[in-house]
Order: sequence, then C-alpha cells, then structure tokens
Amino acid sequence: MRIDVVSIFPAYLEALSLSLVGKAVEAGVISLAVHDLRDATSDRHRTVDDTPYGGGPGMVMSPEPWGESLDALRASGGEAAPVLVIPTPSGVRFDQAMADDWSAADWLVFACGRYEGIDARVADHYRERSDWAGVLEVSIGDYVLAGGEAAALVMIEAVARLLPGVLGNEVSAREDSFAAGEMSRRVEGPIYTKPPTWRGLDVPDVLMSGHHGRIAQWRREQSEERTRRMRPDLG
Ligand code: 6GU
Repeated sequence: MRIDVVSIFPAYLEALSLSLVGKAVEAGVISLAVHDLRDATSDRHRTVDDTPYGGGPGMVMSPEPWGESLDALRASGGEAAPVLVIPTPSGVRFDQAMADDWSAADWLVFACGRYEGIDARVADHYRERSDWAGVLEVSIGDYVLAGGEAAALVMIEAVARLLPGVLGNEVSAREDSFAAGEMSRRVEGPIYTKPPTWRGLDVPDVLMSGHHGRIAQWRREQSEERTRRMRPDLG
C-alpha cells in the first residue's frame, strides 16, 4: 500500500517511523511519504491560508496549494488512482469497518488541514476527478483537534495493523472483518498475565482452571457486563 500525507507540519508525522507502522514501512508493506504543503506555494511567504468569505473567526486553507500538491502526487503515481482522505471534525465517523475497507486500497492520500479547515472546493474538485478513486471526509470522534495530523496518525495505524505481512498481524482478513462487526456490538472484558497474585489482587480462578468452555463463557459474560457499563450506546 502507498500512503502519502500532506501537512504544514510534516514533523508531526515522524511518529509513523516508530513502532508497528515504522516496521511495516521498513518491511516494504507500506510505502509512506510525508509532504510539506508549503512546498506547493509560490509566494515569498509560502502562504497557505486566507480569511473566510462571509466572515467569521479564524482562517481557511486556500485551494491553490492543495491543488498543486495533490496534482503533483497524482502525477507521480502513473496509472494508479488514489483515495483522498480529508480528516475533519465535520466528516463521517472513522471506525473499524472503515479501516478494514481501506486496508484493501492501493493508495491513500491524507490531506491534513489546520485552522478552520480547507476551502470546500478542494473536496468537490477531487470528487469530480476520474483519475482519483474518491474523496472521504472523515472524523475520528466528537471533539475538535487543532488539525488533521493527529487524526491521520490514528487512521494510518488502524489501517496498517490490518495489512497482510505486518508484524504481529497473524489474523486473517476474514477474522479482521469479523472483528470490525463485533466491535460495533461489544467491547472486550478484562485480561490478565503473571503473576497470579499482585498487590493482593488475584487472577480469576476460572482462567487458571483449564476448562476452555467455562473460560469462553466467562469471557462472554465479562464482555457483556463491561459493554453495558462502559458503552451503553452499543448492543
Ligand atoms: Cl479528523 N480533525 C480535526 N481537526 N479534529 C477532529 C477530527 C479531525 N476528528 C475529530 N476531531
């Protein structure tokens, strides 16, 4: 999978060289590049924003640098058509099913906005372009971040861990899509490792019993209880 990220803070994405995503890049499973939006500007001050038409607080990212940057990326990709992901708090909610869908894509481009967001014509334009595979405006939750970079990190990690050949990913694509469905219904219950007693707290006896049927039933019950308590919106 090819992943490109465009941002005015490319250093924000340096975390992608660590941990699981970094290993996937080193292993060649992901080809990742981060680009500075300001490299696509043409004025002396490398301006990327302007005041909003109609008035209002803050600044809006201008369409021209985005057009230049995204066109250059597309031109570097031969025949391939990228999916454009625009992280925004006004987008559709990102979830495990979406991560699962995206893990089958050949090429994702993340356009990370700052300030009040990106001029709406950028999304409209690339949605009309037949040499792009679509535009998705996506939010990671109901809170407002200062920019799309942290959201892009979240989405890229969620997708990367599903790719075949990524370290620690021994589960099949079928199981992942099952997990995506499960996740929208319930959360996992508690998990334990050694030692059997820690600061006076014991691991539940059933987990030491060796009875696989009873263990599975206990885990089901714990999962249901925790879902009721932590996520009354599910189920
Ligand atoms: Cl994708 N971007 C920003 N700026 N804030 C967010 C978000 C995205 N998702 C939740 N809050």
